[in-house]
Parts: sequence; structure tokens; C-alpha cells
Amino acid sequence: MWNFGFAPLAVSAATFVYSAATSKDPCTLISGKGWVSPAEARACMTAFPLEPKARANIIDVVSKTLPFHASENYQLQAPAPFQTIHVDLSAELARLNRTQYSSEFEFHLDMYRTFQRANDGHLGVYNYCYDYLYQTFVPLPLVYLTEDGKQDVFIAPEAFKVASEEFKGQIDVWQKHLPGQLRGNLASLSGAKVLLINGENPLVAVNDNAKVRGESQSAATRQNLFFASYGHDSTSWYYNLGDFARQIHPIVDSVQLTVQRPNSTHTDTFSIPYRSRASNPAKNNIKDVASYRQSICRASGSTNGYDRYSPSAASRPDPGKMPAVASLHQEYEFKPSKTPLLIQNGVIPSHPPVMDVTLPKELRPSSKPLDESHGGAQFFMLDGQRTGVLVMGTFNIRNTTDLVLLAQRLLEGLQKLKDKGADRLIVDVTNNGGGSIYLAHWLYRILMGHSDKTFPQAGLDTTTRAAPLAQLIVEHIISKKVDPRNLSLYNPKRWKNAKHQPLPLDKNWLKTGPKLTINGQNDAFSERLGQESQPFQDTLGLTPPKERLFDPKNILIMSNGVCYSSCALFTVRMSKSYGVRTVVVGGQDNIRQEYCGTVGGQVSNFMTIDTEIKSAKLKNHTLAPPDLLFRSVVSITWRLGYGVDNPNEPEEWQPHWANISFPLTLKSVNNPEEIWKSLTSRYLNNSTLFHIQEP
Ligand SMILES: *[C@@H]1O[C@H](CO)[C@@H](O)[C@H](O)[C@H]1NC(C)=O
Ligand SMILES: *[C@@H]1O[C@H](CO)[C@@H](O)[C@H](O)[C@H]1NC(C)=O
Ligand SMILES: *[C@@H]1O[C@H](CO)[C@@H](O)[C@H](O)[C@H]1NC(C)=O
Ligand SMILES: *[C@@H]1O[C@H](CO)[C@@H](O)[C@H](O)[C@H]1NC(C)=O
Ligand SMILES: *[C@@H]1O[C@H](CO)[C@@H](O)[C@H](O)[C@H]1NC(C)=O
Ligand SMILES: *[C@@H]1O[C@H](CO)[C@@H](O)[C@H](O)[C@H]1NC(C)=O
Ligand SMILES: *[C@@H]1O[C@H](CO)[C@@H](O)[C@H](O)[C@H]1NC(C)=O
Ligand SMILES: *[C@@H]1O[C@H](CO)[C@@H](O)[C@H](O)[C@H]1NC(C)=O
Repeated sequence: MWNFGFAPLAVSAATFVYSAATSKDPCTLISGKGWVSPAEARACMTAFPLEPKARANIIDVVSKTLPFHASENYQLQAPAPFQTIHVDLSAELARLNRTQYSSEFEFHLDMYRTFQRANDGHLGVYNYCYDYLYQTFVPLPLVYLTEDGKQDVFIAPEAFKVASEEFKGQIDVWQKHLPGQLRGNLASLSGAKVLLINGENPLVAVNDNAKVRGESQSAATRQNLFFASYGHDSTSWYYNLGDFARQIHPIVDSVQLTVQRPNSTHTDTFSIPYRSRASNPAKNNIKDVASYRQSICRASGSTNGYDRYSPSAASRPDPGKMPAVASLHQEYEFKPSKTPLLIQNGVIPSHPPVMDVTLPKELRPSSKPLDESHGGAQFFMLDGQRTGVLVMGTFNIRNTTDLVLLAQRLLEGLQKLKDKGADRLIVDVTNNGGGSIYLAHWLYRILMGHSDKTFPQAGLDTTTRAAPLAQLIVEHIISKKVDPRNLSLYNPKRWKNAKHQPLPLDKNWLKTGPKLTINGQNDAFSERLGQESQPFQDTLGLTPPKERLFDPKNILIMSNGVCYSSCALFTVRMSKSYGVRTVVVGGQDNIRQEYCGTVGGQVSNFMTIDTEIKSAKLKNHTLAPPDLLFRSVVSITWRLGYGVDNPNEPEEWQPHWANISFPLTLKSVNNPEEIWKSLTSRYLNNSTLFHIQEP
């Protein structure tokens, strides 16, 4: 959403509210079409006015869910180096409650962007009715490269290859829009240097996007999100087009670029339109305004929570199998029969990105991954080197079986690399949006061996916010025995205290914690929670070896800065407890890069909190949020991890400076193997000096 700021939808089509008397139904005009112009998509998406009932419902739900979000008062004014983050969410909700909007879409965009301003990937208000419904593209993913000793924006060298495979049937539309000798010659733009975007230095667009982008506290990481990158999800390598080439809403109609093509002495200036692609539900279900509203926007079976102990709980559809608009938000909820201790730190909604562009074959590693590779974990041995690579693209897993299998493969794969002679290791966590907390703890523990830095706590101590209604849930669990199967997040049975001992089952652990004043606001948190994953024999059924697998000096952790949630828990402990070097590739060289962000501790969402409230028989309480009428997702930080360097404050607000900022080139960009090789010869080699960022 670069280039848009916080201005209200100033586009002419957006102020149009459909009136059957005056014109044709704008949703009928795009019905069944796979690709439309952003203006056409907007005309349909802005066709409902904001109904007072719809506004009151979402404002009420968000306001009453916010007290469960642990960072609310911290986000009023974040400490340095995150001081640009300051948002008063309660005041903003009051503003959203009274502002006039020309459509519900305009209202949602304001809500969405307001929450993004907290720059916290765990926090967000999403709406299946609008987000990711018509993703909007130009076939020109950009990258930030260092050539001839200078950093510049380029059109990715692989741009045409990626776009012509992904956008079959649409590429000709773009080909025909190019002027003069560029017409039909989109391929010739690949690898071009970008001199201007809309007549300005390209970094203006990069920074405008970073301002509204959300997702990471680090401004450097938000800049990096503008650019194309690669990743590995639980099945395959993918290509993330970056924010310039891919936007989740149909807002921007076109962009003007001034470029210098490879081997060309002159510059070309041209405009190219954005085009919007219908998600499958949009393509299949939108016949007119009424069917759009009915089939896509109304609350579905998994929008709201449920009472775990009601007779109908068993027949509730598995959220994992819901025909979602896109897997916008993975509503994690393991079947109650599984171990209730299996906890997800959660997945950032946009990582992996909600689309499936594959990384072109030429850019994927040439060597075959070791047989031990599984899901998000892929192992490679670099030719003729002593360096092994673990690609840890995601900690996300589907179920307990998968969790244990992945944990086992991680150990076997790392051991195999050692058997093959590796005594150095690169861990590539590019675009890792998190997943299972247990896996993050396990990987840290097996890499570093048994020591007082890995046992008993292989993660971070945590705390959750002790909102009045949350305290009442615990009260009901203790005195009214409303959670006989011990499934509630608030059941003291699930947690250990700061000394890593079980919490007493008859004491309200939300009332025994610190009362704090944060940014002038009184706040309350639970008592400090200790470790939760060890012994691994009990949680995973696996025994980690005693000895460390690699010398911390010989490990490099690399990414584009996009390493959130469980990935952050892992990298923070590796870096801060063992001094393992961290590398961010492709960042602007005059800005300090951070190797992770959005640490959190555990993510949750309205649906889960609603389940807690309903199961504790508190849905009628005045503080309880009502059910959602429409398909929104409200995502929150439920627990915060305490820091390593300052153990009395959340890790979330402590710096995560990368040791090394590593430039990308036309040759190495989006080519993981090429990057690993350059890193190896430069930083895993005794004869060269480490290039450490200045503090
Ligand atoms: C929103 O406005 C309505 C009516 O003006 C009011 O009843 C309600 O309390 C407001 N909600 C919030 C969260 O400000
Ligand atoms: C640019 O010129 C060099 C040297 O002549 C050549 O190797 C390269 O393929 C050319 N690049 C393009 C994109 O034409
Ligand atoms: C667990 O998830 C994996 C990966 O999606 C799947 O192949 C497997 O069948 C699932 N197992 C169970 C028991 O659900
Ligand atoms: C839940 O915890 C209580 C207290 O430890 C225990 O008595 C009970 O058996 C547990 N219930 C289940 C289903 O595990
Ligand atoms: C890397 O940076 C971390 C802090 O960000 C520091 O503790 C560690 O000593 C650094 N490593 C090296 C080798 O300088
Ligand atoms: C809420 O109150 C209504 C009316 O008093 C009652 O019928 C309903 O069962 C209550 N619901 C819950 C979840 O307690
Ligand atoms: C280490 O660096 C030197 C000099 O740059 C180079 O000759 C040598 O091959 C490198 N060794 C390894 C293992 O990369
Ligand atoms: C450098 O060499 C020493 C001695 O051979 C070895 O112990 C150490 O692991 C090496 N470090 C790196 C980063 O290669």
C-alpha cells in the first residue's frame, strides 16, 4: 500500500455508493472475471454504505477484545529505538466510531491502517470482505542492490520470468500498455535500474510504504518489505513479490517509472497499470452486490468462538478446513482431544504471503536437499565447503504428528550435516513468520546443547495481561470448575511459575502479578510464567543430545529481517544468549538492520478469546464482546516474552541489531545458494575480518 498514507480514499470511484436506480450493479460488472482493473474492483467493494449496525458491532468487538492485547499501553509510546511507534488504539476506536465514511470499505481501510500503525504483526483487524479479495499487481517486482559500490533500486532480474509464469493470460494486457519501443517488450525491463517512481527518488515510495506498512517494529525491515524476496513454506520455495508489485487492496491504479535498461545509455519513462486478481471466492461467488455481501462478508462458522463444553462443540467445523477467502488468518485451534499443551506462537497473517508464486527453478538451490529435510526445514551441504545450511522457512505445523516429525528431522538433518563434515552452519530464516513455540525452543536447545542457558528455559519467560474479564475467567475455572478437561488458556494447570514449578491450582494467577504504570496508564499483568516446553521427553516425546551441535562462533543466522514470533524467540536466544552472528541481506546500508521483530510471546485472536469467554459461561457479562456479524479477524498479542538483556521488560521493545548488513547484487538477489556461498567465504572463514555494524 505504498504511496497512500492515511488519506481517506481519495479516489473518485471510491466515493461512489451503488444505487440500483442510477446505474448497473458494479459487482455484476466484474462477476466471474479473474482479472479486473483496480477501479472496477473498488466500485464493487465500495458499493455498500457503512451501516450503523455493522460499525457498532465491529467497534464493540474490537474495543472489548483490546483489553486482552498485552501491548496496548506500550504502544501508546514505544521506547527507543522504536519511538516512532505511538498509537492510542482506544482513542482511535472512538474516532472510527464517529467519523463519516462513504462506504464500509473506506471505514475498514481506516480501521485496518490504524491498527497497522502499531507496527506489530500480531495485532490487526482484518476483514475477509476486503483484505486479499482483489490483490493488485504490477509485473515488476523491485529489488535493492549494490552494484558498482552504490545502492540502487532495480527491477528484479527475474521479473519477467516470474510474472509471465504467475500472470499467464494477463501479461499481454501489460505488454500492450507499454508505450513506444517498450510495447510488447516487458522482458527488456528485467534488471533495469529504477531512477524515479512517480517522478521522485524511489526511496520516497519505499519510505511512504514503510510508514503505513505495519507488521514489524523495525523501520528497516518495513523498508525491506517493499522489495521482492524468497522463502520456503511448509511445502516449497516461493517468491514474494514485495509491496511494490503486490498490494492486498485495489487502491492504486497505475505507477510511472523512469528506468535505465541493462546496457542502455538512455532512460525510459512509462506508466504501467496495476491489475487486480480475484481470489477464488470472489471469482466464484460474486454475482452482484447482494451475493458478495451474503457469501463473502457475513460471519461464517469459524468467525466467532464456541463453548467447548456445549453439546454442539463436537460438530463445529474444523477451522483448518474452512473454505477461507484466502488463508488470511490461520485460526489455530487444535482439536480438544490433542494435548492441550501444544501451543502456537502464531503466524503472521501475511507470511508466507497469501499467494503461491513459486521461486523460478534457476534460483532454487542446485543441490538436492538432504533426505532429512521436512516441511519448513531444508538441509543443504555446500559443495567443497565445511558449511551446512538449514533453511528454516517456517515453524508452522498442522498437527501434533507433524510437530514431532519436524522436531525429529531437525535433529537428524543437523547431525547428517555434521557427519558430512560440516562444522559451520548457516541458518536461513528469510520470511519466517513463526509457528510452534516448542519447535523454536527445540531448535535452540539442540543447536546449543544442554547448559544453564538452554535448560530449563529455552525460550523467554512470559506474562499475559490481567484484564478484569480475564481475571473472571480464571475465577470461574477455579471456583466454578468450568474447565474440567483443562483446555483453557487461562487454566493454571497449563503454566509454570517463574521458578518453573507448576502454578497452584487454587490461586488466581492473574491477581498475583505486577501492577504497572505504562505510559501513564495503570495496567495489570499475570505473574511471571516460566518455561513450558521442557523436558522435551514430556512435550515432544524426544530426547535432545547433551552436547551442542555447532560452535556458536561458526553459526550465521541470516534473513531479510522478516523473522517474527517463534522465529524471533529462536534468533533472540541464539544472538543474545550465545552471541551468534546475525545477518540481514539487502537492507539500506545507512540504516541499522534488525534481525527479527514482532517477538510477542503468544498470539491470539477474537475467536479464541470468545471461546474462552463462552466456555467460562461469561458471554453475558457486560465486558464480553458480542459475536461478530461479519467475517472479521481481530488478532492480538496474548502473551509477551520478557527480555534477555533486560529481563524485567518485554523483549518486544528491546533492540535486535543485526551484526552484519550484507549487500545483494544482480547475481545473488533471490538466489539463496549464491547468498549462502558469499556469506560463507566472507564470514565463516578465519582469514577474513568480520564486518560488524557500528553500535
Ligand atoms: C460508539 O458510539 C455509540 C453511539 O454514539 C456509543 O453508544 C458507543 O459507546 C461508542 N463506542 C465506542 C467504543 O466508543
Ligand atoms: C549486457 O552486455 C553484456 C556485455 O556485452 C552482456 O553480457 C549482457 O548479456 C547484456 N545484458 C543484457 C540484459 O542484454
Ligand atoms: C498432520 O499434518 C500433516 C501435514 O499436513 C498431514 O500429512 C498428516 O496427515 C496430518 N496427520 C494427522 C494425524 O492429522
Ligand atoms: C484437569 O486437571 C485436574 C487438576 O489437576 C485433574 O484433577 C483432572 O483430572 C484434569 N482433567 C483432565 C481431563 O485431564
Ligand atoms: C552480534 O550482535 C550481538 C548483539 O546484537 C552481540 O551480543 C554479539 O556479540 C555480536 N557478535 C559478534 C561476533 O560481534
Ligand atoms: C445469557 O442470558 C440469557 C438470558 O438471561 C440466557 O438465556 C443465556 O443462557 C445466557 N447465556 C450464557 C452463555 O450464559
Ligand atoms: C577463505 O578466504 C581466503 C581468502 O579470501 C580464500 O582463499 C579461501 O578459499 C577461503 N576459505 C574458505 C574455506 O572459504
Ligand atoms: C577459526 O579457526 C579456529 C581454529 O582452527 C576454529 O576453532 C574456529 O572454529 C574457526 N572459526 C571460524 C569462524 O571459522
